[in-house]
Amino acid sequence: MAVSLTPAEERTFEAGRGRAPRDLEAIETELLLEAIYRHYSFDFRQYAPASLKRRLWKRARAEGLDTLSALQDRVLHDPACMERLLLDLSVNVTAMFRDPPFYAAFREKVVPLLRTYPFIRIWNAGCSTGEEAYSMAILLAEEGLYERTRIYATDINETVLERARAGLFPIDQMRAYTENYIRAGGKRSFSEYYTAGYDRAAFSRSLTDNVVFAQHNLVSDHSFNEFNVIVCRNVMIYFSKGLQNQVHGLFHESLGVRGVLALGHKESIRFTAYEDCYEEIGHGQRLYRRTV
Ligand SMILES: C[S@@+](CC[C@H](N)C(=O)[O-])C[C@H]1O[C@@H](n2cnc3c(N)ncnc32)[C@H](O)[C@@H]1O
Repeated sequence: MAVSLTPAEERTFEAGRGRAPRDLEAIETELLLEAIYRHYSFDFRQYAPASLKRRLWKRARAEGLDTLSALQDRVLHDPACMERLLLDLSVNVTAMFRDPPFYAAFREKVVPLLRTYPFIRIWNAGCSTGEEAYSMAILLAEEGLYERTRIYATDINETVLERARAGLFPIDQMRAYTENYIRAGGKRSFSEYYTAGYDRAAFSRSLTDNVVFAQHNLVSDHSFNEFNVIVCRNVMIYFSKGLQNQVHGLFHESLGVRGVLALGHKESIRFTAYEDCYEEIGHGQRLYRRTV
């Protein structure tokens, strides 16, 4: 029997049939992220969409799947697939003394402040495989401050944290890292800090004596201490504006009064809900001091 539709129903039906694949992709993305959140509690729902979609598709193709719905099915029923996806979603690119002028500004502007504290607590949020935490430990050791510092280096991803704890980095990176170290104002010979092996450089264990590597999700976990410095570089570029504001709320709550917040060179406190709570210090190197 033929079903007759009202003109309005016909328009809805046609619109549905003619829906562009992009709309479908948006629905599938939303459902996949919701499924991941409900089942695994990893909340990627507010990550910036362009890079997120690229990474979801990268995983789908690597799994031999044609749709994001198929990826949802696999992720829900195969925790190992979720682990692989997590690695894809968390962009782990990092380097020792990354953006050397940042470390030079840190030495010049932040170290004198830290000298006035009897004990220093630093939160390195989104530390990836640890190069940033090792760089900070080296800098503080050279300034005579490491002994009284505790660095809490956290990331959402346990796999990268295991690599951070091991302190083994590719030997072929050492040339670039040495150049970074010199440009960052390093005071010794960079090779003093590691023992070169066949393809790895093993960093001195003493550099992690005062570092705690732990899993922490900036989106869903709470504040866990009060810090003198929070370093969170190249993490929030992957977050939507709303999520950035939420995480800035977490940092504001976790930072002592007159504490320092360090962001990546493509990030800024400006145009966030917390811009009035900080003053900029340090030559445009994204170093901010909490004022209120
Ligand atoms: C591009 S790396 C930046 C590493 C380092 N901060 C640097 O600038 O070299 C971004 C890191 O943020 C972590 N990340 C992403 N979302 C996160 C979240 N919700 N909570 C904690 N870490 C997160 C990723 O796992 C990744 O290791």
